[in-house]
Formats: sequence, structure tokens, C-alpha cells
Amino acid sequence: MTPNDVRILLEAVIDTDLDQTLGSLGAVHDVEVTGNRVRVFLDAIQPLHWAARRLDHDCKATILGVYPDSDVEILVRERGSASRRTAALAGIKNLIAVASGKGGVGKSTVAANLAAALAQRGASVGLLDADIYGPSQPTMYGLSAETMRAEKTEDGKVIGYPNEAYGVKVASIGFVMQRDQAAILRGPMLAGYFTMLVEQIVWGELDYLIFDLPPGTGDIQLTLTQRIPLTGAVVVTTPQEIALADVRRSIQMFSKVNVDVLGVVENMSYFVPPDLPDRRYHIFGQGGGQTVAKEFSVPFLGELPIDIRVREGADEGFPFVLDPESGLLGDAFRVVAENVVREVRRANARSVDSSVEISL
Ligand SMILES: Nc1ncnc2c1ncn2[C@@H]1O[C@H](COP(=O)(O)OP(=O)(O)O)[C@@H](O)[C@H]1O
Ligand SMILES: [Mg+2]
Repeated sequence: MTPNDVRILLEAVIDTDLDQTLGSLGAVHDVEVTGNRVRVFLDAIQPLHWAARRLDHDCKATILGVYPDSDVEILVRERGSASRRTAALAGIKNLIAVASGKGGVGKSTVAANLAAALAQRGASVGLLDADIYGPSQPTMYGLSAETMRAEKTEDGKVIGYPNEAYGVKVASIGFVMQRDQAAILRGPMLAGYFTMLVEQIVWGELDYLIFDLPPGTGDIQLTLTQRIPLTGAVVVTTPQEIALADVRRSIQMFSKVNVDVLGVVENMSYFVPPDLPDRRYHIFGQGGGQTVAKEFSVPFLGELPIDIRVREGADEGFPFVLDPESGLLGDAFRVVAENVVREVRRANARSVDSSVEISL
């Protein structure tokens, strides 16, 4: 067994998120062989919060299949892509906007539980409530209005510090922006001010920054998506026709400004009565999210049921996905989180292809 023998085996292993071999991804950085001990150094496209274990397993199984007596260690390093980052956001690996065309479809709920599910998986996560007119993340995370400390520096710049709950750093733009300003400044001016504030929040190093965007496709959304170097956007809808019309506008807005749509999440897809667990009621219709995803050739990231525990968690300030008893309901949200991460990896693989690589 030579390093090259092992390398040839590994280069044929498929990174299933990306549907590409480790060879074509240039992911096999180095192989060391000492007797029956094998050490493999992989450079895999970040983020690896779900992929690391799978890569470890698939590489080990491949080597052990041919050299059953070997003792294999796989060391995975992250790579890709910090391109297009402004200095202020340089420490943030992935910026994800959660958007919807329409209010009340569960955008904030999805953003809150997505952030919590990622943090539970060991990621460092920031959550920015960018909905100035109706911020809900402080409530959903059980944080009071003092959640975010804002300071004025000597040169008059406002700097905001997020607070932490359940391992997620939460900040609300409403706490940095003086309330009256939100009312006075409108349209493009507000959007510009807003972008400036986003960059003045001290996040530190993050794997993910999740933006809970205000609903709609107005000036704020447009300016934000143009100025902030987003990795991509997750679009939330309900299956209802009236919500789908708005989600189409939302997807069109992102493609107009060249932001990858990571996919569509369908919320409030069905209701399972607790006393009739075999029944599924499609209160808002059926299959709308999938139809719209297909129409725009974007991924469908999953469907989430209507459940009283989701609403209770939101009101009580506890992202219910963290409840050890969350069961099938929690699994539905975790599947969405896993699918989002896969799509983020795909987006990063595309930008590694088209840009100068920066190792993180
Ligand atoms: N899957 C769900 N099951 C039950 N209640 C939900 C679900 N998704 C959202 N809700 C509730 O619906 C309301 C609107 O959700 P929210 O996330 O605030 O929507 P948006 O941010 O799109 O305006 C909230 O009271 C929330 O708790
Ligand atoms: Mg909201």
C-alpha cells in the first residue's frame, strides 16, 4: 500500500452533496502511509457540519474495503469561498437570507429554527433580525429589548453587539436603528443606512449569518441583496396560491441581482391532529412549494407541518427544534437545515470554480 494507491482509491470517492468525485474536486490534499497506518488530508468545500462525518465514513470504508487491516485516519480541512466579502463581513463564512414574498408565512420561524438547528450541530451562528417594521427574533429567542448593546464611537459610528441565546448570536437591526429613523427614512435611503448598520455589528467569526429579511420585494430587500455578499437565499412560502404569487416575485428579485436561490421551504404544509396521527389535513392546499421550485428550477428544501408546538415555542422564546422531544416535527426542520447546508456547499463549490480561492 503506497500513498498513491490510496490516493487513487480516494479520488473516486463521491462527495454526495456535490455529486462530484474527490478527484475532480481536487479534495485529496495529501496521503501518508506508515506500515498499516494511513493518514489522509482532505480539503473539502465548506460548510462541513453534515458532510464531515459522511466524508470520513465513505473514505474509511473505501480504503478498508481494499486494505482491511489498515488503520485509517481522515483529517478534513475546510476550503472555499470567502470571495466578494467586504472587510466588515470577512469573518463570516456563509451569509444566508431567509426571505418571503408575503408576511405571516413563517419566515421568522424558519430562520429561528434553522439557526438553532445549525448551532446544535456545532456551527457558530449569527441571526440578524432585519425586519425593522416587525422584528420577532428577540421574542423567538426569549431576549429582551436590551438584547443588543449599541455604542457610539468617537467618530459617531454606531457599533452593535449581538447577544447570545441557545448558542446563537442574535441581533435586531431595530435596536441599533433609532426607532424614529425607521419611520422617517424610507426606500433607498433607509436601505443604504440599513446596509451600513449590518456591517457595524460585531459578530466575530461565524460559520453562518442568517438574515431574517422583511417580507416583500421592496427597496430594502433589493438594496440588501445587492450590497450584502450573500451566499444565497432561502425562500419561505405556504402552499397557498396567494402566497405563491408573492414567492415568484421574490425568486425573480434574487435572480435579477444574481443571488443564488438556495431553495424553497414550504411551511404550514399540513396538519396532523394529535388524536388522529394517521390523518394529514392540507389546510392551505398541497404541493404549491414544489411546483414553484420546479417552475424556477431551484431546489425544494422540505415541507414543515403546522403544529401548535411551533407557535408555542416562538411565543415562549424557545426554538422548539432544540426540544429533545421534538420528534418527527423537529426532524422535518432538521431535514430543511441539512438541505440548506448542502445547497450552501453547492453554491460555494460553484464560486470556488469561478474565483480565486481563499482558504479559511
Ligand atoms: N409550522 C408552524 N406551525 C404553527 N405555527 C406556525 C408555524 N410557522 C409559523 N407559525 C406561527 O405563525 C405566525 C407567523 O409566523 P412568522 O414566523 O412570524 O411569520 P413571518 O416571519 O413570515 O411573518 C407566528 O405566530 C408563528 O408562531
Ligand atoms: Mg417575521
